Amino acid sequence: MKTKVLMVCLGNICRSPLAEGVLKSKVDLSSVFVDSAGTAGYHIGKAPDARSIAVAKKHGLDISEQGCRKFTAQDLDDFDVIFAMDKSNYKNIIRLSRSKGQRQKVHLLLSNKDAIEKEVPDPYYGGEDGFEHVYQLINEACNRIAKEL
Ligand code: 4NP
Repeated sequence: MKTKVLMVCLGNICRSPLAEGVLKSKVDLSSVFVDSAGTAGYHIGKAPDARSIAVAKKHGLDISEQGCRKFTAQDLDDFDVIFAMDKSNYKNIIRLSRSKGQRQKVHLLLSNKDAIEKEVPDPYYGGEDGFEHVYQLINEACNRIAKEL
């Protein structure tokens, strides 16, 4: 059985598609399944934001084939580990949980005690710089996660 990891943000078009692509590039995909979802349903079925596709491409990753989907309560059963990009996403996921076991699967992506920033900021309304910053935060976190998986 593969370990199933889910990356979650608000829209599933900026941060979590990048996190999905970055983690996929660092793990053995024969033993780890990685997916992403958004707690809001604004962009269902759409490709990631062009700025996320661009920053991924700059770092050698192609995330253009991903499609946006909404996070569901079923994901709390289906996945082994769920990473939220920020505290608001975290709360929205926890709100859908039905057991302690489910709640124990949910973590902030930047939850390690040494992290200076605890949240991956929402880059949607900002410029290109925001996306590079988001990439760097996600990349660091995924290096750690990949070692632990
Ligand atoms: P994401 O960014 O949560 O990183 O995908 C956002 C994308 C879209 C919106 C907000 C955040 N939106 O309001 O449409």
